[in-house]
Amino acid sequence: MASVEKRDMETRHGASLQELNPSSVHLPFSQELAQELLNTYGSPLYVYQADILHQSIRRITQAFSYPRTQFRFASVTNGNISLLQIFRAAGWGLHANTPGDIYLGLQAGFAPEQIVYSGSNLNCIEMEQVLNWGVTTLNLDSVAQLQLCCEVYQSLYTENSTTPRLGLRLNLPEITGDSRIGVRPEEFADAIALARQAGLKLSGLHFYRGTGTNATEAFSNVIDKVITTAQLLPDWEYLDFGGGFGYPYHHSGAAFNWEMFGTELSDTMTCLGRDIELVIEPGRAAIAGCGTLLAKVVSVKWQEEKQIVGVDTTVANLCVPAVHGGYREIVAWRNRENFHVETLHPLVLQLTDVCGNTTYSRDYLGKNCHLPALQIGDIIGILDVGAYGYAMSSHFLHCPKPAEVLLENDTHRLIRRREDYSILLANQVFD
Ligand SMILES: Cc1ncc(COP(=O)(O)O)c(C=O)c1O
Repeated sequence: MASVEKRDMETRHGASLQELNPSSVHLPFSQELAQELLNTYGSPLYVYQADILHQSIRRITQAFSYPRTQFRFASVTNGNISLLQIFRAAGWGLHANTPGDIYLGLQAGFAPEQIVYSGSNLNCIEMEQVLNWGVTTLNLDSVAQLQLCCEVYQSLYTENSTTPRLGLRLNLPEITGDSRIGVRPEEFADAIALARQAGLKLSGLHFYRGTGTNATEAFSNVIDKVITTAQLLPDWEYLDFGGGFGYPYHHSGAAFNWEMFGTELSDTMTCLGRDIELVIEPGRAAIAGCGTLLAKVVSVKWQEEKQIVGVDTTVANLCVPAVHGGYREIVAWRNRENFHVETLHPLVLQLTDVCGNTTYSRDYLGKNCHLPALQIGDIIGILDVGAYGYAMSSHFLHCPKPAEVLLENDTHRLIRRREDYSILLANQVFD
């Protein structure tokens, strides 16, 4: 069995638990606020902090000095309209992976020309829908998708049609790895001819490095290669350098260096001496850090020296730790009413598994965490769940989804209602 890491804490028993959480981790807000939020909106609860989101938008925006840089938030990570509106107010557009992303973006008030579509495998009806919505920048994943796009454009064409600008997603194994996505440079000539036959230009190259990479060099080392490849397109007008930028979920671990990458890419673009637009579409890196999933402790038991904490949420509400093995820091707040309760080793962090409220064998929100000895009624916070959190929650295990709340200017407000069990009947047809 793994040994229990015991750290002596110089703190008052029952004081704020900042000192009783792992030292690299900061509590996102006070115990009083965590309690107030759960009392007001119920548990479990997704909480987003607008100030943290603003900070990350500012940091990413300021990292690029290249004047023709456009930012497009990758809403595959989080489709909450109120959060999308924060990006819109900051001057960002939207990156859409699916027609559903576009639909949400339009509802959030983005103009169609602020939306870049770079998805995969649309059928004819979906392609028609995307063009009918007026999306003008499309990065296509294959020559077949390009052909479909051209055919649909021609079939919908009227004198008032806006001409879309088309790009190709790049597949170059030496830099995109073993990926199913994209078009190889040797296919470019066919693609260019196809677009020209439809009276359209292939003016963009889209590069996507793969998600969650904290190694800055993995991006900066390939800038020259991507640009050289883009120059194979005679009508080249824009470069989309994608998303995939990492987020430091291990708070003491490696973090993507926006300043270094932004400077390198801006300098290279400036030196090109061509008026090329640069598109950056971060998802996770922009929004992960502003989200916390709050839940209440409903059961505590001990197996030898390990604490088994049961909480009132589940991997259906946050699937990344279980399904993708992703790590998320977990913090705890003691309920004030529990302050009088004597706990085992009150001043020591305990090896802890945080378990969901089902018997699904993978229903662990955190394994081998270090948390204080907890009691029923205490609160846990799973940090950095702003990206791929609610967006990947499901009705697996037949669990309704949590509510979402935004903390802004010292107030909080509901931005998505909690589901109730009636959601489980939605669209079912029965007598
Ligand atoms: C083309 C494209 N851009 C951006 C993103 C967002 O990725 P990340 O959250 O890693 O930045 C994705 C994710 O699927 C994507 O496919």
